[in-house]
Amino acid sequence: MAADQHGCPLLACPHSSSCRLFFPEDPVKIVRAQGQYMYDEQGAEYIDCISNVAHVGHCHPLVVRAAHEQNQVLNTNSRYLHDNIVDYAQRLSETLPEQLCVFYFLNSGSEANDLALRLARHYTGHQDVVVLDHAYHGHLSSLIDISPYKFRNLDGQKEWVHVAPLPDTYRGPYREDHPNPAMAYANEVKRVVSSAQEKGRKIAAFFAESLPSVGGQIIPPAGYFSQVAEHIRKAGGVFVADEIQVGFGRVGKHFWAFQLQGKDFVPDIVTMGKSIGNGHPVACVAATQPVARAFEATGVEYFNTFGGSPVSCAVGLAVLNVLEKEQLQDHATSVGSFLMELLGQQKIKHPIVGDVRGVGLFIGVDLIKDEATRTPATEEAAYLVSRLKENYVLLSTDGPGRNILKFKPPMCFSLDNARQVVAKLDAILTDMEEKVRSCETLRLQP
Ligand SMILES: Cc1ncc(COP(=O)(O)O)c(C=O)c1O
Repeated sequence: MAADQHGCPLLACPHSSSCRLFFPEDPVKIVRAQGQYMYDEQGAEYIDCISNVAHVGHCHPLVVRAAHEQNQVLNTNSRYLHDNIVDYAQRLSETLPEQLCVFYFLNSGSEANDLALRLARHYTGHQDVVVLDHAYHGHLSSLIDISPYKFRNLDGQKEWVHVAPLPDTYRGPYREDHPNPAMAYANEVKRVVSSAQEKGRKIAAFFAESLPSVGGQIIPPAGYFSQVAEHIRKAGGVFVADEIQVGFGRVGKHFWAFQLQGKDFVPDIVTMGKSIGNGHPVACVAATQPVARAFEATGVEYFNTFGGSPVSCAVGLAVLNVLEKEQLQDHATSVGSFLMELLGQQKIKHPIVGDVRGVGLFIGVDLIKDEATRTPATEEAAYLVSRLKENYVLLSTDGPGRNILKFKPPMCFSLDNARQVVAKLDAILTDMEEKVRSCETLRLQP
């Protein structure tokens, strides 16, 4: 076989194994999608429980039309005056606490978090970052460094990165029976900050997803973020809320997931991506005036070729319009509660379901080997996901043990979809239990 100068085989296929497919054993070729449904090349219809990017539904006609109409008129960059960028910033500001009033537009969640890091460092004059364990904040070099989910598999932790435990009340050190898990987990952050300071390090920022999703669909206890912010600000740092997976009404009762932490909690920087453009590459950083002014004071221009283009802003505005017109935030509350209720019944029925947690249409089902140890049921979760796919339900797993079934469907996911998906889950779990029972019977036979 032909080889390159490093001796690596030269393959005809341009695909790198660093890029993975869903269901690698039996990948799906999707050729069309609408709302919460995806269709393969044979025309088979799948219910999409994975895509929080197609936030208001795949190929939503109003979003598609907004992009098309603006594309026909003008697509340029943010160095020219344009109404779309101003209208869009205005509309976003109406969803946020008034302190978060300066907006930067970009193309991806990674770009947003990288800019947030720069802003935090300029504002504080410090370098270091505190992150939650198992977090993922993006694929740029700067963000791999603050993503334990990635750097643990690479050359390790940089000296300017400090990791605090996930505020996981199901599997973490402080659980549902702890009298004050919010304070206990916030004190862990305080401890991490103090130990960094003892080494002469200075904290620029605390980065966290408002609901840690890659970490396993975690719901931090209420009050945790305010207490963390207090410890971080005391150390001279800022609080960055990564809303890339969980913002834009997904949690139902609030537009932003950080608002679950109470009215008084306001991050210094909020990063947005994925759902913001319903699949179009749009992202945004919202910052407070003092943070933005410190960045301006450097005198260095911020320019992003595609960020904030008239088309991107038209798409962003259309997403906000659809959310409002179709009342998708309220819809997420009602369908999410119904789905939680159905999944709760599965927990009673099937011992493998250890925990069902969530808010709105952000739900995790934690699969365990046994209740006493709560050991992640990793292989079982993978098996379930592949069986669900055979049953035309697209679902995936998250968490360090890859045992948490994650529900993050498009926001138009319906009550009927919830019923269908849980009925299929129930049938597969029952079948799995049946198989285990017959194996045990066989083993018991002399
Ligand atoms: C929480 C979080 N932050 C940031 C990112 C990076 O976003 P992008 O892939 O758009 O660069 C992701 C992507 O998965 C994410 O889940």
